[in-house]
Amino acid sequence: MAVTFEVIHKDIAGRVGKLKAGEKQIKTPALLPVVNPHLQIIPPADMKKMGVEGIITNAYIFSKSEEFRNQALERGLHDVLNFDGLIMTDSGSFQMSVYGSVDITNEETLSFQRDIGSDIWVPLDIPTHPDTPREEVIEQMEITMARMKEAKEIFGDDAPISGPVQGAVFEDLRESAGRRVSEMGFTYCPVGAVVPLMESYRYRELVDVIIAAKKGLSAGACVHLFGAGHPSMFALAAACGCDVFDSAAYALYAKDGRYITTSGTLKLDEMSELPCACPICRSHTVEELKKSPEKQKLLAMHNLSVTMAEISRVRAAIQDGTLFELVDERCRAHPKLLDGYRRLLERMGEIELHDRASKRRFFYRGSESCKRPEVTNYHKMVSRITLSPEVLISAGGPVPSRFKEVIEFKPPFGALPYELAETFPAGQAEIPSWDEDMVNCGIRGLKLLFETNPDTKVTISTTEKWKDIFTREFPGFEVFT
Ligand code: GUN
Ligand code: ZN
Repeated sequence: MAVTFEVIHKDIAGRVGKLKAGEKQIKTPALLPVVNPHLQIIPPADMKKMGVEGIITNAYIFSKSEEFRNQALERGLHDVLNFDGLIMTDSGSFQMSVYGSVDITNEETLSFQRDIGSDIWVPLDIPTHPDTPREEVIEQMEITMARMKEAKEIFGDDAPISGPVQGAVFEDLRESAGRRVSEMGFTYCPVGAVVPLMESYRYRELVDVIIAAKKGLSAGACVHLFGAGHPSMFALAAACGCDVFDSAAYALYAKDGRYITTSGTLKLDEMSELPCACPICRSHTVEELKKSPEKQKLLAMHNLSVTMAEISRVRAAIQDGTLFELVDERCRAHPKLLDGYRRLLERMGEIELHDRASKRRFFYRGSESCKRPEVTNYHKMVSRITLSPEVLISAGGPVPSRFKEVIEFKPPFGALPYELAETFPAGQAEIPSWDEDMVNCGIRGLKLLFETNPDTKVTISTTEKWKDIFTREFPGFEVFT
């Protein structure tokens, strides 16, 4: 019965893994589309054909529905929804956060989730709004913790119960919540109450919240980001260490006439083309789609296709070791996403431990790339090299034969001794024509190397364009062109 998680590939703090809940198994990162039993715009059986391995539905809605309650209790959730993949159920917590209270207890919702055959259950956690004062956040967190403890006591260690991590925007609280959830033995851990952050594009804080929760959680925990469903942010969230997403965005946006792309959402009424390869977009013109009586369903299908394709792309990028490139690309779509990406780069020192040592490539994509851990690690590593008494740093200028040791300058890394010329990252990095950020970053790497070789006589050969920078940064060395 228990939920288990196995990590297969890693990139940044992202993982490709296998999540097992009872008999069901899904690949992660995964998106669980939200299914509302009353409004099944896309029947779950059709979702399966679109690559959906798991869905999430709301146990509270089932328990309050005359139509569905008994059906689910008698036939089980999988039969009622006609879906044989993984089904996770949420408790009434979300309703509680919207309406203030719900008329069920923690034990009641968990028993109900068990009785309808859900594969992953959620206790009655309190989704504390990000802007709640600290004292209140602590009070609510303690209630959530007590309910998780109660869940373990009543249903046992093997029950497939998730352990939500709350704590609003207080990083120490998120971290301690994560630690306590892991100590209690939960392996499936949703990071909760982040919807308001995402709705107002507070991606910088979102990155902080996820990193804090991950610090407390054990490395083997499967991390679910509650309510995250826009494909523009999957790469960033996965890079921070999130494994599962769930969202109703595909359906809510469709209801609103909105068309999801990986770089943002468009209003169908304002579109002149359907820039997508999914079956809906290839078999309709934009005018046909606008006028179709099935518009909402077709839009939902497009939205879900795009979302699922992005999840595949994220998994592939993690497996290939190109997640940084994908994050970089996606986070150009909105300045606030760029803020989130920059925050991740600022905090790389704290999560680098999860990153892999060798990747397929390093593409320089502007100044953000200077902050990638491959660069910082290279700077640390290269300073261990011992130089000859006299070297020429070849930074684009002529290389006279009188120098016995010639070392290439490769920004943003710095010195690239020929022994490392074929190795990752510096030897395999693809860089465009130099820019100032890149050269300054490379110079920082050079300085670290020279600090550990103070007796080496250094000469630098460069071009007119970069001569002033080198002369200014290395006043003691000869710089020629
Ligand atoms: N859905 C979105 N956020 C949350 C949360 O924090 N807790 C629960 N149970 N469901 C959610
Ligand atoms: Zn499409």
